[in-house]
Amino acid sequence: MTLAIETSCDETAAAVLDSGGRVESSLLASQAGAHAPFGGVVPELASREHLRALPWLVGQCLEQAVSDPELVAVTAGPGLIGALLVGVRFASAFAWARQLPLVAVDHLEGHLVSPFLNLHGEPARALPPRILALVASGGHSGWYFIADGVAEPLGRTRDDAAGEAFDKVAQVLGLPYPGGPAVDCAARRGDSGAIPMPRPRLRDSTVDFSFSGLKSAAIRVIRDRGLTAEAKPAPGAVDDLLACFELAVVDHLLGPLAELVGRWQPTVVTASGGVAANTLLRSRLTQAATEFGIDVLLPPLELTGDNAAMIARAGQLAFARGVCHDPRRLDAHPRQAWQPPGMAKGCSMKKRVNR
Ligand code: KG4
Ligand code: ZN
Repeated sequence: MTLAIETSCDETAAAVLDSGGRVESSLLASQAGAHAPFGGVVPELASREHLRALPWLVGQCLEQAVSDPELVAVTAGPGLIGALLVGVRFASAFAWARQLPLVAVDHLEGHLVSPFLNLHGEPARALPPRILALVASGGHSGWYFIADGVAEPLGRTRDDAAGEAFDKVAQVLGLPYPGGPAVDCAARRGDSGAIPMPRPRLRDSTVDFSFSGLKSAAIRVIRDRGLTAEAKPAPGAVDDLLACFELAVVDHLLGPLAELVGRWQPTVVTASGGVAANTLLRSRLTQAATEFGIDVLLPPLELTGDNAAMIARAGQLAFARGVCHDPRRLDAHPRQAWQPPGMAKGCSMKKRVNR
């Protein structure tokens, strides 16, 4: 039984999983309402909201679970430092008081294992030996190759994350925060061929992303064509713009897929992170995987965005590899992937999880 806590950004989350990875309970207190008036996440407000919600949320989670936790997992980074610290200190105190082992989890490792989780009392799937994985969220976008449970980053965004680009374009249009779900909804009604949108081109052989040019191009169209809410645009005009923008983002995310499948020969391709809830991304990826003759695995919609069930599963897998941390020494790591004490800064995820 694993209790997990996730407080890296603006969702307070707690979950309990049994040893087979069955989700016994997974609860989330969204802070969207608190941040909405500011058009984005206010870090200090996020910390205070976590502090307020966490004790109650963990209490509810433990009440729903059939037995007591035997392991504690917590997101130690990357994320907002104040927000992370609330979760890390809470989890450390809980583990220390109950004399339970504690495992610090990298938020991205949580997203990477989320496609292997099931809801409705089903156990988690085992990770196949060769997985090609896309993570696309509000803070991160990149491709990974996971070999025998060890993740290696293949490419990442050089500027905005995909979700951030959705959020910023939605904000200019006056749509509610976070913008991804509203963009998804409007794009379903729009014509994705109505307005030409550029496709980002990086002048090298990496599989990195760049979303800032695409975001600026969309914002330019919004301003030039008077598509903001105050300008009272023609019905359907905003839907068309968002359909074209969404298609360009999804094209860019899936652009390297054929090359990566050829090079890494995966048996499964996955997508995770908040943007993996996107309707077009899910259908395009499923279609492409079928064409390549490989399986596609997507997280249940409830587990695409930030949640603690994914942190619990990543913690269980790390604990099975022998990873464990001292609750009196564990710290939060806001910027880079979390690393155990004593390991050189800048070392890759691969080295880190191999320890
Ligand atoms: O994984 P997540 O909850 O938080 C981070 O780790 O960043 O991702 C949140 C992001 C937001 O940018 C949100 O707009 C985006 O995921 N998102 C979507 C959709 N649902 C959420 N983007 C596109 N289509 C969606 N349906
Ligand atoms: Zn996330």
